[in-house]
Amino acid sequence: MKVHTIGIIMNGVTGRMGTNQHLVRSILAIRQQGGVTLPNGDIIMPDPILVGRQEHKVKALAEKHGVTRWSTDLDACLADPANQVYFDSQTTVHRAESIKKAIAAGKDIYCEKPTDTSLEGSLELARLAKQAGVKNGVVQDKLFLPGLLKLKRLIDSGFFGKILSVRMEFGYWVFEGDWQPGQRPSWNYRKEDGGGIIVDMFAHWRYVLDNLFGNVKAISCLGMTHIPERVDEQGERYTATADDAAYATFLLEGDIVVQANSSWAVRVDRDDLLTIQVDGTEGSAVAGLRDCKVQHRVNTPKPVWNPDIENPFAFTEQWVDVPANQIFDNGFKVQWELFLKHLVIDTPFPWDLLEGAKGTQMSDLGLQSWKERQWVDVPDLKL
Ligand SMILES: NC(=O)c1ccc[n+]([C@@H]2O[C@H](COP(=O)([O-])OP(=O)(O)OC[C@H]3O[C@@H](n4cnc5c(N)ncnc54)[C@H](O)[C@@H]3O)[C@@H](O)[C@H]2O)c1
Repeated sequence: MKVHTIGIIMNGVTGRMGTNQHLVRSILAIRQQGGVTLPNGDIIMPDPILVGRQEHKVKALAEKHGVTRWSTDLDACLADPANQVYFDSQTTVHRAESIKKAIAAGKDIYCEKPTDTSLEGSLELARLAKQAGVKNGVVQDKLFLPGLLKLKRLIDSGFFGKILSVRMEFGYWVFEGDWQPGQRPSWNYRKEDGGGIIVDMFAHWRYVLDNLFGNVKAISCLGMTHIPERVDEQGERYTATADDAAYATFLLEGDIVVQANSSWAVRVDRDDLLTIQVDGTEGSAVAGLRDCKVQHRVNTPKPVWNPDIENPFAFTEQWVDVPANQIFDNGFKVQWELFLKHLVIDTPFPWDLLEGAKGTQMSDLGLQSWKERQWVDVPDLKL
């Protein structure tokens, strides 16, 4: 049995996603479980080095979690051949510059989405990685959510018949930061810092739609900045220059119509922060982050419009839960394990920088549709 130790530079790891999802729930969890076991019994053991600009923060994070390697010098980490992978979860506008350096240093790349704030920038990263021959991957975590895996199981079983339409409701109230601190970083609400719900969420919607239902062919989008002023982490008022809600319609292959509301200015009266309703000729389903419920055509009630009487239907009780039938691990961790296997034994890993660029293409086209007040077609992406 051989242990393949993979040195991973983790940059942006003091942030929300970096600390919680990538360091604690993925890399450290993989180390705690004894690495990733390969079919021949070999083990892959990730060996992180935490990188950040502020020494006190990165040192404290490393000490808290018992990580021995940390640094404030990215160039030195990149120069060290023991580090095979560069991982980036910095704020979006800082990602491309560091990834370009890492590609030039011959590192394999794994990073958060969106890979850049513009399609041009995202495509350049994909192109450079291909030219350099380095392996690369982009986080597409929603595909590994239990609720969406159950939905995929339903699709693969033919449960829906012909899928007609999809309704996605995403969002929750993000506090303005005055009388209660905001629960998202303030850069999310400043366009100049890479913020905006379209840039953030359409990267997700692209791979969710492409992978589950069919390729996106066209988009119509209306963005809004509902809350024009917020208060930042230092208690300073600032102007929200980025969109905090987007009301979009996507047309997919096979004429599947998708309506997607994304909002940080909405209060939740649904089962989860994201719900996806799928209606097909044979049945319907509603998925959340973990759960998924279905209604088959034979269980479909026959309501008649009549406001003169009390509603005789308990509609929400007429659905049946889809069982788990398996153990669902953390989605970020599952994708990290697949990427590590891809590095060592070359198993397929389809979620690369080109797929990441499709996400940025979606947000670019959403912003264009909003600006021009019209439908926009989605052209094929080539390197
Ligand atoms: N996959 C998902 O579901 C998901 C969810 C949220 C965010 N994200 C993405 O993850 C990334 C990080 O988001 P977050 O919510 O963790 O943000 P955050 O603000 O909590 O963390 C950002 C990280 O970048 C670093 N950083 C900030 N300013 C910097 C600068 N000027 N120079 C260099 N580094 C800087 C910070 O120190 C921190 O480590 C974003 O690109 C975001 O789009 C993905």
